[in-house]
Amino acid sequence: MAPVTSLTANVNQRLADALASALPETDGADPLLRRSDRADYQANGILALAKKAKANPRELAAKVVETIENGDLLAEVEVSGPGFLNVTVADRAITETLAARAADGDRLGVPLKADPGITVVDYAQPNVAKEMHVGHLRSAVIGDALRGMLDFTGERTVGRHHIGDWGTQFGMLIQYLIEHPGELAPADEVDGEQAMSNLNRIYKASRAVFDSDEEFKERARKRVVALQSGDKETLDLWQRFVDESKVYFYSVFEKLDMEIRDDEIVGESAYNEGMPETARLLEEMGVAVRSEGALVVFFDDIRGKDDQPVPLIVQKADGGFGYAASDLTAIRNRVQDLHATSLLYVVDVRQSLHFKMVFEAARRAGWLTDDVTAHNMGYGTVLGADGKPFKTREGETVRLEDLLDEAVQRAAEVVREKARDLTEEEIQERAAQVGIGAVKYADLSTSPNRDYKFDLDQMVSLNGDTSVYLQYAYARIQSILRKAGETKPVAHAELELAPAERALGLHLDAFGDTVFEAAAEYAPHKLAAYLYQLASLYTSFYDKCPVLKADSAQQVENRLFLCDLTARTLHRGMALLGIRTPERL
Ligand code: ARG
Repeated sequence: MAPVTSLTANVNQRLADALASALPETDGADPLLRRSDRADYQANGILALAKKAKANPRELAAKVVETIENGDLLAEVEVSGPGFLNVTVADRAITETLAARAADGDRLGVPLKADPGITVVDYAQPNVAKEMHVGHLRSAVIGDALRGMLDFTGERTVGRHHIGDWGTQFGMLIQYLIEHPGELAPADEVDGEQAMSNLNRIYKASRAVFDSDEEFKERARKRVVALQSGDKETLDLWQRFVDESKVYFYSVFEKLDMEIRDDEIVGESAYNEGMPETARLLEEMGVAVRSEGALVVFFDDIRGKDDQPVPLIVQKADGGFGYAASDLTAIRNRVQDLHATSLLYVVDVRQSLHFKMVFEAARRAGWLTDDVTAHNMGYGTVLGADGKPFKTREGETVRLEDLLDEAVQRAAEVVREKARDLTEEEIQERAAQVGIGAVKYADLSTSPNRDYKFDLDQMVSLNGDTSVYLQYAYARIQSILRKAGETKPVAHAELELAPAERALGLHLDAFGDTVFEAAAEYAPHKLAAYLYQLASLYTSFYDKCPVLKADSAQQVENRLFLCDLTARTLHRGMALLGIRTPERL
């Protein structure tokens, strides 16, 4: 494996060196290099640096141009405007850098972090005995993409699917099952759909009895106590609900083309044992106090109506532990046992106050230190085409599976229309990759904290910022590479590059820098935007620069080389986001 330093980093270094020797007090300063339309890059930092040193910016810029060593890297550096520098990179340097990337297999020359940490990613956390909805879609899709990106930088990620597998509703469910023993088929005898329909049926039926029959309600309440005290029969039945739900979860995750590991499904119940200790420690340390029988944590800056403080409830007055206690106990486990250096929660933004309080309480308790960052990647709401929270026509929440099925069906129409030589089976296979990719991409290409409209027509469109557009760009390149037959991609650094080739090449080189930035900021949309631009730059390159009919044999090989590296970069980038790139479409 041979990591490659990006052209941007090299140019930046060259400028910083020249700047420091032209004006020693700027040593270590950032020349603020940006990609630019006028040249390859523009450096805007000199203005402010000169002002600070009471020097004339244009003169300083001119001095930098004089001092800078062009070497093989730079073709031209010139002063522009009040003291900007326009920088043009040598064609040879572009091709040679890209060739080094191409020689580095899957990693494309992207280095691994020098000091990787351990990030525990809390994502894809549906609730037992409940249907998954679009909110769970976002958590799964965003979490999976963040993991892909972080892993690629060398960070170690550990997944935690904090499923909702505990709570008083289980008293009702279990008691109902005891009284109607045949209702839940064994988990190994059902598929995902049957599992969910069983669970739905039991949920509705038990709720109806619970609401109408006071005696059942009392039996259900006692059942909660039995569950909490670890009664064997009760726990076994609880486990059956969990297992049945997992069959359903896995079927949805499979449809989502997402790998979920069983050992990373660590739900709320996993922290039961630690919760009393969490409460005891918090009380002993004085972080939590008794208030009306409950154990709570107060915060100066968190107040509700009438300026009343809103507390975090660690333990209810009846002794029960809830959501906050399991999250606090999970933090202890993740930091102390898993040695996490970062905790990332991909959870609906509507829970951000909960996390703010949980993090603050954990800091006061010393469970979160300055060495550990904790962040809730709070995502926005999925809206319907009408701009209101996504609901069915009947006003119910949309079943995630229906939505995925519809996306795949729409994708099949698109694929069929374009398919020339595909069999029906191939069409279905592509449709799944295109449809699920479209759903994921639409989610990932908007900043996570924003709401977005779930608009299938737009999502599977061939034009515009969609995964289908990117997938077609990839497939088109594969078809060119196939057509090239015996002619293989070869870089020829001696060739002069056309403007469209330069633009594509410089963008290809920025892949690693982009992934690092997007991963550090937990911003998958930055990678999505990069890939969309890559496909667009490829399209203009393809329009302007004939590949197989180029002027010389070298030119053909070199353009094939650009095609090949574009395809590999698209493939890798999409894979990091969890999206497939079919070889043919
Ligand atoms: N199961 C919860 C829900 O559906 C999300 C869990 C989020 N993770 C956590 N550690 N609290 O809303």
